[in-house]
Amino acid sequence: LDIPVICIDGPTASGKGTLAVEVAHALGYHYLDSGSLYRVTGLATRRAGLEPDAANEGRIAALAHGLSLQFIKGQVVLDGEDVSDAIRTEAAGMDASRVSALPAVREALLSLQKRFRRLPGLVADGRDMGTVIFPEAPLKVFLTASAAQRADRRHKQLISKGISTTLDSLRADLEARDARDSSRSVAPLKPARDARRLDNSQLSIAQSIEQVLDWWQDVQ
Ligand code: C5P
Repeated sequence: LDIPVICIDGPTASGKGTLAVEVAHALGYHYLDSGSLYRVTGLATRRAGLEPDAANEGRIAALAHGLSLQFIKGQVVLDGEDVSDAIRTEAAGMDASRVSALPAVREALLSLQKRFRRLPGLVADGRDMGTVIFPEAPLKVFLTASAAQRADRRHKQLISKGISTTLDSLRADLEARDARDSSRSVAPLKPARDARRLDNSQLSIAQSIEQVLDWWQDVQ
């Protein structure tokens, strides 16, 4: 099981996705967007007419376990339907956060996540990549940025997609999501003991990529 893994964990809108994709690209590694699994589970939950809460934990876990998912050229395909846009809304993010707090759901998605570890290597982003899914990974990065920065970036992203929201409501949403993700009893958002912290508030994307690639050289 000597397949290299780089974990990139951190709060909502910290830029994990962009950084992980770029690092994977630079190294020719596979990429796991673990948040998309919780987002798809949230979507499947709504589509089944269920509230994403503990009363439905067993049924939601069964949905998560039976997901028919494909990742095709950066698109997320559920039962043959491209759901890439549907899972990216703020409401979908909140539903993802709610289903992800249910232990049986996390358990149901465990082996699927581990199967992404294939040669020549994997870059995985999420909340618990370094603490729970790949604790033996040689490089774990905990990525942060100020809440103001994160809200601002998310705001620009949504505007570029033609979705209108206010900065204040975005910031409130992401703080609520971070609070739930950090306070839950299973796999809370927190840095692994051996994680290297990177605050990218003042860094360009290129600088963040370079830092992670430098660290990767260090641990080789
Ligand atoms: O990273 P992203 O914002 O797409 O994740 C959506 C939600 O899924 C997060 O707010 C978090 O609650 C949950 N999640 C998780 N564990 C992961 C990745 C995401 O609990 N590894």
